[in-house]
Amino acid sequence: MKKFSITIAGGGSTFTPGIVLMLLDNLDKFPIGEIKFFDNDEDRQATIAGATEVILQEKAPDISFTATTDPKTAFSNTDFVMAHIRSGKYAMREKDEKIPLKHGCVGQETCGPGGIAYGMRSIGDVLELIDFMDEYSPDAWFLNYSNPAAIVAEATRKLRPNSNILNICDMPIGIEELMANAIGLNSRKEMEVRYYGLNHFGWWTDIRDKEGNDLLPQIREHVSKFGYVTKDESLQHSDASWNSTFAKAKDVQALDPETVPNTYLKYYFYPDYEVAKSNPDYTRANEVMDGREKFVFGECQKIIDEGTAKNSELHIDEHASYIVDLARAIAYNTKERMLLIVENNGAISNFEPTAMVEVPCLVGSQGPEPLTQGEIPRFQKGLMEQQVAVEKLVVEAFEEGSYQKLWQALTLSKIVPSAQVAKDLLEDLIEANKDYWPELK
Ligand code: NAD
Ligand code: G6P
Ligand code: MN
Repeated sequence: MKKFSITIAGGGSTFTPGIVLMLLDNLDKFPIGEIKFFDNDEDRQATIAGATEVILQEKAPDISFTATTDPKTAFSNTDFVMAHIRSGKYAMREKDEKIPLKHGCVGQETCGPGGIAYGMRSIGDVLELIDFMDEYSPDAWFLNYSNPAAIVAEATRKLRPNSNILNICDMPIGIEELMANAIGLNSRKEMEVRYYGLNHFGWWTDIRDKEGNDLLPQIREHVSKFGYVTKDESLQHSDASWNSTFAKAKDVQALDPETVPNTYLKYYFYPDYEVAKSNPDYTRANEVMDGREKFVFGECQKIIDEGTAKNSELHIDEHASYIVDLARAIAYNTKERMLLIVENNGAISNFEPTAMVEVPCLVGSQGPEPLTQGEIPRFQKGLMEQQVAVEKLVVEAFEEGSYQKLWQALTLSKIVPSAQVAKDLLEDLIEANKDYWPELK
């Protein structure tokens, strides 16, 4: 059996150790001969890489391992690039969240002004990684989950149409695990779903078990009472802010009781509520820096110091096993059904063909085949048209260096109340992002 070579771009990510442990846990299904880390921050990556070396020595000494900042080393002879970079790191995430709040708008990593600012940083960096892959391993596949995935996906569609790229998000997977738990199933894999939307902006319209029994009524009832909060606390993200997001899904679902929604829609439906409960001096970025980042880097340093991972509390990110499913689908032509962010091209029949939409696809060695979801209702169509226009305008603004288009994008965002607020925001965001954005004219 072929042993695959994997490049993890964003080797210094807080998610890297969980993904490595997950890959090691799945070697029978997906054999690996080589893992390479690539990051543009050598020091940050060194801590995660140092711990990974110890972990591999103990669990899988046959896998060769390199951590590098050199693109040629990282991207040569690779089969899959798993990309989760964060352009500007948490310092810039903090600004993406705090600057909008200063203007009375939702401050969020991927939605509204924060997502637009992050998009303008991410596009160039992700395209650069794709170019490295295309230069050094042109047959490889690029599995992207770098955010904001909606904007990055549109940029890859438009600017790298011939590269092998799959854009994916773990939010629907996380929510499906909660749904499965709420109705007493062992795993989300017992469910087959129909879903449509944009990334962080979608709805489940049909959920069945493998025999075809309709599970949606039960799930709808649970969500209408409790959102996605379930009794099994091990499934919840441990932070309070995530639990309040899962609870708020109840109010999001009330807008269309026939379906169940993606949690991210709360930022578009209840922005006033979100702003009111935000602390402009301590946002999710601070929570992550004080929580996940300290924990992961602390545990990795401990592994390095002790020379063993046997006392480590780092855990397998089970949740991330969709990454193996995706790689296996390509490698072995499994035709697994997965939600991906793909060019619409008729999958939603009454929606813009060139929009990047999130829909179920069959994934095989030729890539994804989107499954048709038919016509969508006026409410969702209206919301999605507005949001997809924002995403496309951001990519055009990046491409053309256009101040005007970025102002239009911010003005069109449902989260921003007026063109004046959009302009004030834009001025602040330009200043904060001057080391990252292309110059706007
Ligand atoms: P992190 O800051 O801990 O890790 C990101 C790493 O990327 C850092 O080590 C940084 O140095 C590196 N990096 C930044 N720019 C780079 C570049 N141009 N080239 C190479 N490396 C670069 O962040 P995190 O919280 O672990 O998240 C990582 C990414 O994964 C984020 O984009 C996050 O939004 C994304 N994410 C996506 C999903 C999804 O559903 N799609 C789920 C979880 C996380
Ligand atoms: C979910 C989303 C990701 C997002 C992450 C943020 O997993 O699908 O797109 O990056 O949440 O989580 P965090 O813990 O960093 O706030
Ligand atoms: Mn996501």
